[in-house]
Amino acid sequence: MPDPAKFSAPAPDRHNDDDIPSNPSATPNFGDILNARIDRRAALGGAVGIAALGAMTAMGAGLFARPVKAAAGQGLTFTEIAHGTNQTHRVAPGYDARVLIRWGDPVEAGAPEFDPLNQSAAAQSKQFGYNNDFVAFMPLPTGSANPAHGLLCVNHEYTSDHLMFPGLTKHREQAKTTQARVDIEMAAHGHSVIEIERAKGAWRVVTGSPYNRRLTALATPMRLAGPAAGHARLKTKGDPNGREVIGTLNNCAGGVTPWGTVLIAEENFHGYFGGDPRTTPEARNYKRYGLKGRPWHAWHEFHARFHVEKEPNEANRFGWIVEFNPYDPRSVPVKRTALGRFKHEGATSVVNKDGRVVLYSGDDQRFEYIYKFVTSGRFDPKNRAANRDLLDSGTLYAARFKADGTLDWLPLVWGTGPLTPVNGFASQAEVLIETRRAADLLGATPMDRPEDVETNPVTGTVYAMLTNNTSRGTENTDAANPRAKNRHGHILEMIPPGGRGAGADHGALTYRWDIPVLCGDPAKPGDGAKYHPGVSADGWFSNPDNCAFDDQGNLWIATDGSPRNGFADGIWAMAVEGDNRALTRHFLRVPRGAEMCGPAFTPGDETLFAAVQHPGADKGSTFDTPSTRWPDFDEAMPPRPAVLAVTKRGGGRVGS
Ligand code: FEO
Ligand code: CA
Ligand code: CA
Ligand code: CA
Repeated sequence: MPDPAKFSAPAPDRHNDDDIPSNPSATPNFGDILNARIDRRAALGGAVGIAALGAMTAMGAGLFARPVKAAAGQGLTFTEIAHGTNQTHRVAPGYDARVLIRWGDPVEAGAPEFDPLNQSAAAQSKQFGYNNDFVAFMPLPTGSANPAHGLLCVNHEYTSDHLMFPGLTKHREQAKTTQARVDIEMAAHGHSVIEIERAKGAWRVVTGSPYNRRLTALATPMRLAGPAAGHARLKTKGDPNGREVIGTLNNCAGGVTPWGTVLIAEENFHGYFGGDPRTTPEARNYKRYGLKGRPWHAWHEFHARFHVEKEPNEANRFGWIVEFNPYDPRSVPVKRTALGRFKHEGATSVVNKDGRVVLYSGDDQRFEYIYKFVTSGRFDPKNRAANRDLLDSGTLYAARFKADGTLDWLPLVWGTGPLTPVNGFASQAEVLIETRRAADLLGATPMDRPEDVETNPVTGTVYAMLTNNTSRGTENTDAANPRAKNRHGHILEMIPPGGRGAGADHGALTYRWDIPVLCGDPAKPGDGAKYHPGVSADGWFSNPDNCAFDDQGNLWIATDGSPRNGFADGIWAMAVEGDNRALTRHFLRVPRGAEMCGPAFTPGDETLFAAVQHPGADKGSTFDTPSTRWPDFDEAMPPRPAVLAVTKRGGGRVGS
C-alpha cells in the first residue's frame, strides 16, 4: 500500500483516509516506560547514545561501538547507486534488472494481448493484475531447490484507476463508474501464478503453462477454515453456511510455508465497503478496523455484498491470511481464521526447533500490533499432505514490548484473562473476528505501522519493518517506538531465546528486542537517525516496507515513501551483525511515482525478483498524461506495474 501519511511533498498514489489511527487504546504505559524513554532518547545518535542503547539490550551494542570504515557488508561488495529519480529504474553497476512480466501480460491460457483502451473483466481475469506487491519463487519440481525453473507467485494489492483508464483524475476516480469498470478493477486485484524458467541467463514466462493461474476479487471461490469458519458473524445471503467467500483483496505481502504453499495477506479491506457501518450490528467491530463506509471504489454500487447495510457480515470475511497451493492450479484457496483478522501486511513462517511452525504477522496501521501464531501440531517434512491443515489450530499472540529490552507474547485465548463474555467474546471465533479488540484488552504495544516481518535464516532473529507513524506524540513514545512524529520509520529486532539459527526458540513467550536502524537522514540531527557510522550519503533511506533475507543472512529492505525525501524508492541492503552491522547501501531504485515491493531471492541468491508498484503515480499524473510510460515507453501504453528479475552479469550472488 502506498504510504498514506499526510505530507505536502510529492504525493504518491495514495488513498487518503486509510491510515487514520483507529486504535482507541493507543496510550502509553507510562509506569514502565518513562525511565527507559529518557535513556533511549539520549541514544538516538552518536557514540554516547549507542553505549546507552547497548546497556539496555546487549545484542549488537558492542558492534556499533567498534571503529569502522566504509566497507562492504557480509559479502555485500556491490557498488552503491546514488539517490535519485528518473523515468526508468536503476540498478547497481554490473547488474541487469530486466522486466519479466507487466500488468496486462497474458497469464492463463487463452488470455488476449493487452489492449489498454479496450480492456474487459474477461481479459483482465486471465492477464497479470495491477500493482504487483509480494513475490514468492516456488521451485519446480515441487520440493526442489531449483534456482532456474519455478513458479512466480505475485500479489496484486490494489488498482490505481486514474492510471488504468482514460479520462480520470486522481480525485475523480469514481466519476462515471460503470459495472464494466468495477469488474475490471476486481479482476485486476488478487494474485498471479506464472511458470518461469531461466535459459542462457535470461528469465522468461512459460506461456500457456497449466500452472499459470489468476486469483481475483471478482470470481475465485475460497474456503473459510479454522475456529471462525461457519460462525454466525461470517454468514451472508450468498453463503448461509459461512464457509465460502468469493475472492481476496488488498493482498499486500505474504509468505511461504515449509510445505510449499503460499500465504497471501488481506490488508486494507476497509477501503472496499460502502454503506453506513454504524447502522449494522457490527458497528463497534467495523469502527475498530477503520471501516467507515467511505470506499476507494464503487464496488458496493454493483455488488451488494460490498454494501454493509445490505450484507452486514461480508467485511468479516476479509482481513485474513489466505493459504493456497500453487502447484495445483485447481486447488481452492483457504482463509485461515486461526491466524486472526486484522490488516495483515504479510505472514512469514519458520519451523521451530520442536517442529511446531511459527508465523509472524504485522498489522499495518498506526498504533497497531505485531502478532505471532504457533501451531499446535508439528511439521512433517516427509509427508507434504500431512501439513495441509496445520494452520487451523494453534495459539495466536500479540507482542508487548518492555523498556528493559524484553518483550512478552500475550496469548489471544478465549476464556482467559479479559477474553470472556463480559467483554463481548462468546467464543474463540469472536476473539479471532475481533482480533484487534482482543489484543487491546491484553495490553499489546501500539507500534509505528508494522509492515513486513521476517526471520533471519542464519541468526534466527526476527525483523519487523516499522514504516512510520507521524501521529505518535512526544507523550506516547516508548522504548520500542522511540520517536515522536516518526516520519522515517525504524527496524526492530525480536530475538528469541535458545540460540542462533535453528536453535532459536520461536515458541518462547519472552524474547529480547533491539533497534538496529532508525531511518532518516543521518546528516540531519533533527531526524534522530541511527545507522552504522560509515553509511554513505546514498545509503540512508526512509519508510522500510517489504524485506527479504539472502542465504548469507543479509537484510534487503524495500521502501515506500522516499519521494518525500526527494528521491525514488528502492532497495537497500545491510549486514545484520559483524563490523558492518546496519551499514545500509543502495542497490536498486524504481522509476518515478513507484514504490518497491517483493523482493524475493531464488535458492542460492543468483536472482532477485523485485516488484515495481504504481509507477507514474506522482501528483497530477494520469493515464492520459503520465509522468512516465515505464516500462514500455510507448505512447500507446500507460505506465505498467511490473516485476523485475535482477541478475549479476557473468553470474554470481546478487549483492556480490
Ligand atoms: Fe500494503 Fe502495508 O503496505
Ligand atoms: Ca504497497
Ligand atoms: Ca507501505
Ligand atoms: Ca507493504
